[in-house]
Amino acid sequence: NDTVMDHFMNPRNMGDLKDADAIGEVGAAACGDIMKISLKIDEKTNTITDARFKTFGCGSAIAASSMATELIKGRTIEDLEKNFDNDQIVDALGGLPPVKIHCSVLASEALNAALEDYKKKTNE
Ligand code: FES
Repeated sequence: NDTVMDHFMNPRNMGDLKDADAIGEVGAAACGDIMKISLKIDEKTNTITDARFKTFGCGSAIAASSMATELIKGRTIEDLEKNFDNDQIVDALGGLPPVKIHCSVLASEALNAALEDYKKKTNE
């Protein structure tokens, strides 16, 4: 659809974050696509202040990770852990074909990996 094409052709927040507080990187076994999400997190409020992605993969994976970085900015870690999953990415994109749902799952897994990374770092 138009939203997916827009995020594929004009991805938001692409790249890395200098001095990222957390990084999550995951791969999809089925297709071999790889996704990395970098976060800046305000440690006082546990809020995502900035997010970037790098995706080596299909157009839907690029659109999903672009949309994911837009959706998570300004939200707290607790909120994302409880209330965020790939359905929100799919909804915000206006839907994905069934064979492309796993591309959105990859984006939510990359976010979860980044949140785990942050917890590991801050618990040390
Ligand atoms: Fe695997 Fe899109 S085809 S992430």
